[in-house]
Amino acid sequence: ENYKVVIPAAGQGKRMKAGQNKQFLLLDQTPLLIHTLRVFEGDVLCESIILVVNEGELEEMRTLLLTYGIKKVEQIVLGGQERQHSVYEGLKALDGNPIVLIHDGARPFIQQSEIHKLVETVVKSGSATIGTPAKDTMKLVVNGKAVKTVERSSLWAVQTPQAFRLADILYAHKKAELDSFMGTDDASLLEFIGEKVTIVEGNYENIKLTTPEDIIFGEAIIKRRKGERNG
Ligand code: CTP
Ligand code: MG
Repeated sequence: ENYKVVIPAAGQGKRMKAGQNKQFLLLDQTPLLIHTLRVFEGDVLCESIILVVNEGELEEMRTLLLTYGIKKVEQIVLGGQERQHSVYEGLKALDGNPIVLIHDGARPFIQQSEIHKLVETVVKSGSATIGTPAKDTMKLVVNGKAVKTVERSSLWAVQTPQAFRLADILYAHKKAELDSFMGTDDASLLEFIGEKVTIVEGNYENIKLTTPEDIIFGEAIIKRRKGERNG
């Protein structure tokens, strides 16, 4: 089944400390956001992209899309104060009841095979998200002291994309707004209204470029992938 994707790129990138929105940072000489957009541009199941941007960066974003020949961006909408607001603006730009994916502009390493596994799952079982099993021993810490060790097998690190029926995720955002509930991802808005979200196992490489050392990890991932293609 086909899907549409909302890509929030309207952050500030404060933790990256680059003095600009990290979406524009160069990875392998290409802006971070372009790496992300190319994955969806190249996926036959992706019908269109809704890109969410900062008002002051609108022109710069338009230029980027032209320069790199990205054609699937059907609408550019303005973001809000928090990621949740930005995503909501993106969702409101859609109509009908398509399958909609929400994917961070700052996660360039998502692969088509993972996207397709996620789309299959949302068709079969409703709301779904990509995630990976926790690798480290996890402890509950209170006032700097470990209180207990949380059973690792039940802990997953959740990533994007996350996939929903448009009607479901729009309803969840509406309810969150009404109840002033802020979540750090979209799945948590469904959890808030008592809905279940299926976890689809993804890949540890699907990092969100967040702090400066992530750029080094990102360059390494690109280098290895290039090596795999040529070797
Ligand atoms: N995002 C957004 N609108 C916001 C905040 C974030 O569209 N008001 C987007 C970011 O551009 C990013 C994604 O949501 O693609 C994930 O957010 P995050 O990694 O936190 O990026 P920033 O908010 O830009 O970074 P920071 O929190 O360090 O300032
Ligand atoms: Mg942020």
